[in-house]
Amino acid sequence: SGRKPLAGKRALVTSGPTHEPIDPVRYIANRSSGKQGHAIAAALAALGADVTLVSGPTRLPDPPGCTVVAIETAREMLAACLAARDAAVPVDIAVCAAAVADWRVAGASDRKLKKDGGGPPALALTENPDILATLSQAGPRRPALVIGFAAETGDVVATATAKRARKGCDWIVANDVSLGTTTFGGTDNTVHIIRADGVESWPTMGKDAVGARLAEAIAAHVAD
Ligand code: C5P
Repeated sequence: SGRKPLAGKRALVTSGPTHEPIDPVRYIANRSSGKQGHAIAAALAALGADVTLVSGPTRLPDPPGCTVVAIETAREMLAACLAARDAAVPVDIAVCAAAVADWRVAGASDRKLKKDGGGPPALALTENPDILATLSQAGPRRPALVIGFAAETGDVVATATAKRARKGCDWIVANDVSLGTTTFGGTDNTVHIIRADGVESWPTMGKDAVGARLAEAIAAHVAD
């Protein structure tokens, strides 16, 4: 119902945490709820976009109108995103809202680690692929608009502006996580939108409202 300014546009959204296995029963994870990424996916679909949501494990229902690809690890998330990007219909808009684990366990065990009297195991970590930076790379399949997130404390805008350049994305949605510890898992969000031409600071609002306003900003940009 209503306006469909994103009809005919394809969007890819990442959401949630990733789970990085230690062994078949244990994993490393983080406190991401997926609320913000799922809200963005739902809002883009409501404006008519064809949305693929690639999500790590969350407690959330699938957002209406989205194709959901469930993954666990960062490497699975990257593979799902590249499959979407390289599909017959190109991706116009990518929004990377997932809290991807920076590291995974190198050589995760395929058998459950046991207390064998030899003391605790040492976990060696290795770096995960950066999905946002990968999707931001120049090339014929690069989405026209790539948006990343940055959870920052301190000088939020300066740090996020540097991150925008480093990742190569078009916009960064910077969360001020120093205002409280409730952004991860909470219902509200305080964000600054960092673009090439400047910064827009939004008042604190619900994650659904941030998703709706971001989808409207995307629609306005895509229409230009
Ligand atoms: O570098 P940092 O993790 O702070 O960057 C956050 C942004 O990068 C978010 O948009 C997040 O989804 C994305 N990211 C990613 N793949 C990673 C790490 C972060 O897509 N491995």
